[in-house]
Amino acid sequence: MEEAIERVHTGIPGLDHVLEGGFPKGARVLLAGGAGCGKTICCGQYLYKGATRYSEPGVYVSTEEPPTEFRANMLRFGWDFKKLEAEKKIGMVDAVYQRVESEMAEQESLQSILYNLRSKLSEVKILVEQLGATRLVVDSLPGFGFRVTDLNTLREIFLEVGLLLKDVGCTTVMTTEIVEGSGLISRYGIEEFLATGVMVLSLVKQSSPLRKLFVRKMRGTSHSLNDFAFTIGTEGVNIKGPIGVRSAGHGGRRLQTQRRKRRSR
Ligand SMILES: Nc1ncnc2c1ncn2[C@@H]1O[C@H](COP(=O)(O)OP(=O)(O)OP(=O)(O)O)[C@@H](O)[C@H]1O
Ligand SMILES: [Mg+2]
Repeated sequence: MEEAIERVHTGIPGLDHVLEGGFPKGARVLLAGGAGCGKTICCGQYLYKGATRYSEPGVYVSTEEPPTEFRANMLRFGWDFKKLEAEKKIGMVDAVYQRVESEMAEQESLQSILYNLRSKLSEVKILVEQLGATRLVVDSLPGFGFRVTDLNTLREIFLEVGLLLKDVGCTTVMTTEIVEGSGLISRYGIEEFLATGVMVLSLVKQSSPLRKLFVRKMRGTSHSLNDFAFTIGTEGVNIKGPIGVRSAGHGGRRLQTQRRKRRSR
């Protein structure tokens, strides 16, 4: 008998429903979006709810903002990460130093970049093992390649990160930024190769601003291809109903049936 895919609750109201119950266990989900779209809040919510509601410890790897800033921002939603860290339910890895180092040595050799990266990644691995963490967040992937302009070097960096993600086997959410007008769904167009799932967040400024989430791919999951409206409120991110009519899966099948009926008339 085929084994059912185990699901990991996202902790984001409405999202599990879109994903047949949650992320597939062990998935590596790329959360892509422009500045201020809500990526970090989604990540914090995934870890906080995981630790408090589902007894699943998690590790947050920060390459963008120092952990102190992250903690303060999350506290705005009542999510006390400091407390969870003290209780060994959450681990925090400050990888922002990577940025400073690569800034200091712009011409740093690939070897020394990889050396530093590997030592940071082994710190992540040790923490995951110590806490028995099953959830991991990397916020953000491009942060590891800050100021690195050579595409081959970036590929090597992401390859190293990808190896760690497979090695630890956590259900991982990793962020990347979408540069407006680039036509890409990630900063460098290579991050998605590490991912078994891709979700895109966007902020549309029409007559009134609208936040949207779109699940572009999620291996092992029959998901809607609709855009979903979401809000950020005092409780964090909340997924509302679908917007528009773009659909595959069930909707797509319905469309095919209608076409077949029309042809047979
Ligand atoms: N307490 C809050 N209530 C409502 N909205 C909030 C609150 N705090 C932040 N926001 C909204 O969330 C946005 C920031 O979300 P977040 O930091 O998750 O974005 P991000 O996608 O990670 O951005 P970046 O690309 O800069 O990392 C803010 O710009 C604001 O619009
Ligand atoms: Mg962020």
